[in-house]
Amino acid sequence: MFSFLNKDQVTGEVAEQALDESKIPAHIAIIMDGNGRWAQQRHLPRIAGHKQGMNTVKTVAKAASHLGVKVLTLYAFSTENWKRPAAEVNYLMKLPVDFFGTFVPDLVKNNIRVKVMGYTDQLPASTQQAVHQAIADTAHCTGMVLNFALNYGGRAEIVTAVHGLAQQVKDGELEPDDIDDELISDRLMTADLGELRDPDLLIRTSGELRLSNFMLWQVAYSEFVFTEQHWPDFDQTSLETAIYEYQQRHRRFGGLASKKS
Ligand code: FPP
Repeated sequence: MFSFLNKDQVTGEVAEQALDESKIPAHIAIIMDGNGRWAQQRHLPRIAGHKQGMNTVKTVAKAASHLGVKVLTLYAFSTENWKRPAAEVNYLMKLPVDFFGTFVPDLVKNNIRVKVMGYTDQLPASTQQAVHQAIADTAHCTGMVLNFALNYGGRAEIVTAVHGLAQQVKDGELEPDDIDDELISDRLMTADLGELRDPDLLIRTSGELRLSNFMLWQVAYSEFVFTEQHWPDFDQTSLETAIYEYQQRHRRFGGLASKKS
C-alpha cells in the first residue's frame, strides 16, 4: 500500500492533524530525491541542490529524533551514483566531510548515533575518515540511530549475503535447508539494528515511484509514502505529514487481522 502526497497535502490540513505519539514508526527510511530538479528550478548548478539537501538532512534528523523515531536511514549515495559526472561525484563525496565536520556537536547534543551502511572501503580516504570519526564521536549516544546508506545497493547487499552463506555451506558449517529469513537478515548491512532492521515507513521525495535498489529485502512489509516535494524543500511538517499518513494505514504483514500501524 502506498500513497502519493501532493504539495497541497504537505502544506495543508493533513499536517495539522495531531500525530498519535504511541504510533511513531520506529524505523523510517528515506530516498532523498530531487536535489538536481530543485537546483534547476532556481537556475542553480546541481551541486547547490545537494548542499541544500545536506541542510535538510540536519533539519529532518533533529525532527525525527524529537518525534521519537529510533532509526532514520537515509539513501545518500548508491552503488549506481558513480555513473554521474566526476565533478558531481566529487562534490557528493565531500558532503559527508562538510556535514560531519559541522554537525557532530549537534548530533551529540541530540543524543544521535551515526551508523553507515554500504561499501565504504571504496569511498575516498577523506570521506572514510569523516565517517569513521563521526561514528566514533557519537558511539556513546543512546538515542536515535542516523544510518547513512553510502555507496549502498540493495542487490549488491543481497549478493554479498548469499556469498557468505554459500561459503558457510561449502565449509560444512551450514546445511542449505537451514537458510531462512532470519539467517539472510543476519547477513545484511542492517543486521546490527536487531529488531529495528526493517523500516516501518519508507518515504521517497520528488514524485518518482520506484525503489532504485534501496533496501530491497528490508522493505518487504514497509508502508510507502511518496511525496512530490523535492528533498531540499522537505521539512519537519513534511515528515509529520508522512507519519500521519502512515498512522492511517492498517498493517497486516500478510495476515488478516486489521492492525492499525
Ligand atoms: C538525489 O537527487 C540525491 C542524491 C543522489 C544525493 C543525496 C545526497 C544528499 C541529500 C546530501 C547527503 C548529505 C550527507 C550528509 C551525506 P538527484 O540528484 O538525483 O535529483 P534529480 O533527480 O532531481 O536530478
